[in-house]
Amino acid sequence: MSTEIRSPSRRFAALAARKINKDTFIQPWPEAGLTAMCSPADPRPSVSLDDDGVAEMDGVRRENFDFIDRFIARYALDLEVVEETMKTDSLVIARKLVDIDIPRQEVVRIMSGCTPAKLVDVMGNLNVLEMMMALAKMRVRRTPSNQAHVTNRKEHPALLAADAAEAALRGFSENESTVGVARYAPLTALAVLVGSQIGRGGVLTQCAVEEAVNLRLAIKGLTSYSETLSVYGTSQAFVDGDDTPWSKAFLASAYASRGVKIRFTSGTGSEALMGHSQGKSMLYLEARCLMVVKGAGSQGVQNGSISCIALPESLPGGVRAVLAENLLATVLGLELASGNDALASHSDIRKSAKLMLQFIPGTDFITSGYSSIPKEDNLFGGGNFDAEDLDDWCVLQRDMQVDGGISPIRETESLKIRARAARAIQAVYAELDFPPITDAEVEAATTAHSSNDMPERDKVADLEAADVFLDGSQTALDVVCALDNKGFVDGAERLLEMLRQRVIGDYLQPAAIFDKNFRVRSGLNDANDYAGPGTGYRLDGERWRALQALPQTTDPKEIISPKVNGNKLFMHEVGPAERGTSPEVVLAVGPAFGEEITETLTGTRHVDVLRAILDGILGEGLSARVMRIYHTSDCAFIGHAGAKLSGSGVAIGLQSRGTTVIHHRDLAPLNNLELFPQAPNLTLDTYRQIGRNAACYALKHPVPPIKLSVDNHARLRLIVKTTLMHWRETQQIEVGAPPIEVRIG
Ligand code: 5AD
Ligand code: CA
Repeated sequence: MSTEIRSPSRRFAALAARKINKDTFIQPWPEAGLTAMCSPADPRPSVSLDDDGVAEMDGVRRENFDFIDRFIARYALDLEVVEETMKTDSLVIARKLVDIDIPRQEVVRIMSGCTPAKLVDVMGNLNVLEMMMALAKMRVRRTPSNQAHVTNRKEHPALLAADAAEAALRGFSENESTVGVARYAPLTALAVLVGSQIGRGGVLTQCAVEEAVNLRLAIKGLTSYSETLSVYGTSQAFVDGDDTPWSKAFLASAYASRGVKIRFTSGTGSEALMGHSQGKSMLYLEARCLMVVKGAGSQGVQNGSISCIALPESLPGGVRAVLAENLLATVLGLELASGNDALASHSDIRKSAKLMLQFIPGTDFITSGYSSIPKEDNLFGGGNFDAEDLDDWCVLQRDMQVDGGISPIRETESLKIRARAARAIQAVYAELDFPPITDAEVEAATTAHSSNDMPERDKVADLEAADVFLDGSQTALDVVCALDNKGFVDGAERLLEMLRQRVIGDYLQPAAIFDKNFRVRSGLNDANDYAGPGTGYRLDGERWRALQALPQTTDPKEIISPKVNGNKLFMHEVGPAERGTSPEVVLAVGPAFGEEITETLTGTRHVDVLRAILDGILGEGLSARVMRIYHTSDCAFIGHAGAKLSGSGVAIGLQSRGTTVIHHRDLAPLNNLELFPQAPNLTLDTYRQIGRNAACYALKHPVPPIKLSVDNHARLRLIVKTTLMHWRETQQIEVGAPPIEVRIG
């Protein structure tokens, strides 16, 4: 199919070329599972109980239950509240979600009696704004945070360690990795573990690989959390993954038994993608997933479509459905890592707009993996937000006073921590007899942006070492000793503390992370207590100061620091200006011109501007008088004041920043002959033309208005400086002072 569109309309051709139109948009097709929130095949909510428990749920009798129904009925539905909830109108429940006077815990209690169809029915009553309000109240942890992805295409250990350390320094609470080649897993997990702990003690790490290997990595102490436990909303999709809800629950317990935090993965679109949607809507199937997650005893879930995000986004209401599934996780009491990880759109506008649905309310993890490395190094298939977008993210936080879980850092801090992490993994490799990491590799990793900046390694040797490490008896404890032997005492202590915490098990509590002081912060000791304005998490104090302090921030006083300037003394005041009688052009300048301020907004010297204008006037054979206006800093009034004293009635008004007007005394002050409001678009040549045109007006020679080049971004770039220059000029005003004639010398 050719996608090339030849539009007869140039407007439509321009639109067709926009990034948004690389995205795919389809009409719903429920039979193929392609509908976001509402399929004709979705059941109506219903339930009936008997002595054996749930006899019927969402229109299916017990004898017809598939294994998901059975699991949900047995483990996820709270039979104590199910009858109360199911007979309550869904609209009434939806209102409780946004009612600040109904506490989170009460909503969780009511929602624990919802069948999957009832959950969807409740969501159907909420628009995105209401869902966002509900999300702010319903997420588990009071303090929002974020997760990073740390991978690279070369699977280079020094770069992994350096990037993990930088991500930790940027404040990510969890660093997730994965591999391109499965056998790298133990070394990747190791590098991310060591790098993360060097960056900041307490960052949880994982390396997402096949489940058996994943569990072995965890048991060895190389990872501290796992979120590879995918669930699906139809039994066929489960069977394709060689799993059942019971096998997932069993795996979850295996992790938990070793003190490893787990979080399940689900999300709209996976069943349709696997061809097993049964014609049901994406949100309905996700509601089933989430009940399985809860029934399996998981403390949390990463959802928000995750890898399938482009599929719901191809449908009307898809982004709303994804927000609804995020909210559903929280109303079931689950910790939420809310997606925004996989590439969702070609359009930056669309990506950012969608992000706001989770970013503004805050979730336990705003992204399920912010690509803290460049897109080409992201082995999860490319991030929705990558290393190149970090500054954008930090600016959004500062703009809205919202905590999106990423701290701005300085280049020097980054270089320092990267070097230390790379040296630490070099030391561990040396102590554990792995293929050496050279000093050149450490240096490259310190300054690298991507794996393109890294030398090649002997892959065969690395993979052999990985196999030996996985199969051998060495564990994270040997890594602690290695770090200690080589003098990385801080790293050794932090890594040992991570292992100690596994035994304590506090970070298995809902939504647990370690804060920057290595203390557990979870739904128990940092419970979300949002109950309307003035409550819940507020970005203030030290944290707000940290998020404001972008390295790009400058002191406005520096932007317009007083300049000692040799050109200052070129204007000599003669005395109060008289009204002229002969043909002339008056050049009236602002109160700071050539004195307090000596150049225009774009740095053109005032002396040169003045000469160019005078050149233009004199070139037409007319005389000119210069006067300084003291009573106003407004361009129009400066020009008009000059015009009233001009023998011809024509004057040029010139502000210190360079804004110019050609005025006539018979015009209203805010009218004019020609106005040049954007100083940055004016060159010396333009100023000369302004002089010439003013002379022509004075001589009553017809003349076309001056054509200007326009730089649309000039105001955007220079508005702060403009403001500051105008502020300084305004400070020079002397109320009631008359215009003073000036001699140029
Ligand atoms: N549902 C279930 N599992 C998912 N994953 C990603 N998206 C979904 C989803 N919507 C899992 C897959 C994938 C990994 C990144 O997370 O296993 O490989
Ligand atoms: Ca993740």
